[in-house]
Amino acid sequence: MPSPMATNLILSLLLFICTLRSPALAQRQQTQINSNSVLVALLDSHYTELAELVEKALLLQTLEQSVASHNITIFAPKNEALERDLDPEFKRFLLEPRNLRSLQTLLLHHILPRKIHWPDSDSPAEPTRHYTLSDDSVEAGGVNPELRVVRPNDVVRADGVIHGIERLLVPKSVQQEFNKRRSLESISAVKPESAPAVDPRTHRLKKPSPPVPAGSPPVLPIYDAMAPGPSLAPAPAPGPGGPHHHFDGEAQVKDFIQTLLLYGGYNEMADIMVNLTNLASEMGRLVSEGYVLTVLAPNDEAMAKLTADRLAEPGAPEQIMYYHMIPEYQTEESMYNAVRRFGSVRYETLRLGQKVVATEADGSVKFGEGEASAYLFDPDIFTDGRISVQGIDGVLFPAEEAASPVVAEKKAEARSVRRAKLAAKPRRGKSPD
Ligand SMILES: *[C@@H]1O[C@H](CO)[C@@H](O)[C@H](O)[C@H]1NC(C)=O
Ligand SMILES: *[C@@H]1O[C@H](CO)[C@@H](O)[C@H](O)[C@H]1NC(C)=O
Repeated sequence: MPSPMATNLILSLLLFICTLRSPALAQRQQTQINSNSVLVALLDSHYTELAELVEKALLLQTLEQSVASHNITIFAPKNEALERDLDPEFKRFLLEPRNLRSLQTLLLHHILPRKIHWPDSDSPAEPTRHYTLSDDSVEAGGVNPELRVVRPNDVVRADGVIHGIERLLVPKSVQQEFNKRRSLESISAVKPESAPAVDPRTHRLKKPSPPVPAGSPPVLPIYDAMAPGPSLAPAPAPGPGGPHHHFDGEAQVKDFIQTLLLYGGYNEMADIMVNLTNLASEMGRLVSEGYVLTVLAPNDEAMAKLTADRLAEPGAPEQIMYYHMIPEYQTEESMYNAVRRFGSVRYETLRLGQKVVATEADGSVKFGEGEASAYLFDPDIFTDGRISVQGIDGVLFPAEEAASPVVAEKKAEARSVRRAKLAAKPRRGKSPD
């Protein structure tokens, strides 16, 4: 039997090995957040002040891990509660880098480690205490509740829910820290400590988070110049109006096909949607029903890499195209922000169970991995609030398909076909026989 000391040694050794291994592992298989996570929704929601603070507090990673292990409930103070209604001195205190811990505690005090739906009625219920991630609790209900929910179930996702609240919740520990700091400040005894740099800018919503990779281009100047984007819209598919609203989905799909054709370089995709399959009308139907869609449209050059027999397999064009449709409304901005913040984001596709992974690469969004990857190439070709079309420079395949030797072979074949095609400058058309 090993002595306790030996056991300890072995344990420490194991731990040591784990710590050695984990950074590499973490880098390789970075946690991937689902694009339909409540965290992504928060960053895209109208709770912009809160979202911004969460970023400044460098809490995204913590929360990401948190939603991986349990669902969450976020009590989101409306923007005014964090702007107008907040004591400027307290706000300054929160934003000072050395008070990062207080800011984190304050924010975690708004999050419960489980998902609770809020009754729609605002009648004061029995006082209830809710334990939060800050290790302190908040009280709801009763006569003068600390927690006043003004927009119950404002954003609902599988892994969590956001309730809009009237004012900021300040845990006792943070209040005490603030008081202490204030009195200390008067005798200027506080030594500045190094802490992660916090950007004190406040006003604009969708600006890049602080650590900008060197040499990356500015984020979306074109998009900023365009009509107000959908990034403020709280929830993607299905439309919040649900079955009450009807959209002329077919007209919208027609518009987008038209736009693709006018844009140029996407004729193959348009052709497949309209002539080779009835995906265009399928999309029209979905949109009419209130769903929203983001299409990752491979450009003509990418489509030329597909072999004709690949498309000729029964059902193949549909399967391929379904993998390029995300049942969410995403713009270049929203996707870029998501990958930038989370490193890697999984989007559902219309191909059931097959997700497409997006990562940040070279100041852009890259979809897929390895050979079957594509860059977001022509952003926001079409964005009307229900349909978004993003041009990409490759055709995507689910990982296992992309990795299969058949595909690799086809790829090689495709490459030579493409070379031949390029040389001859032909167009893909229906074969005459
Ligand atoms: C979150 O809640 C859903 C039900 O809405 C449940 O199916 C799922 O297992 C929960 N996830 C976690 C991580 O607890
Ligand atoms: C569909 O086919 C017709 C006839 O070949 C062609 O005129 C039309 O442009 C095609 N539509 C698209 C969207 O490519």
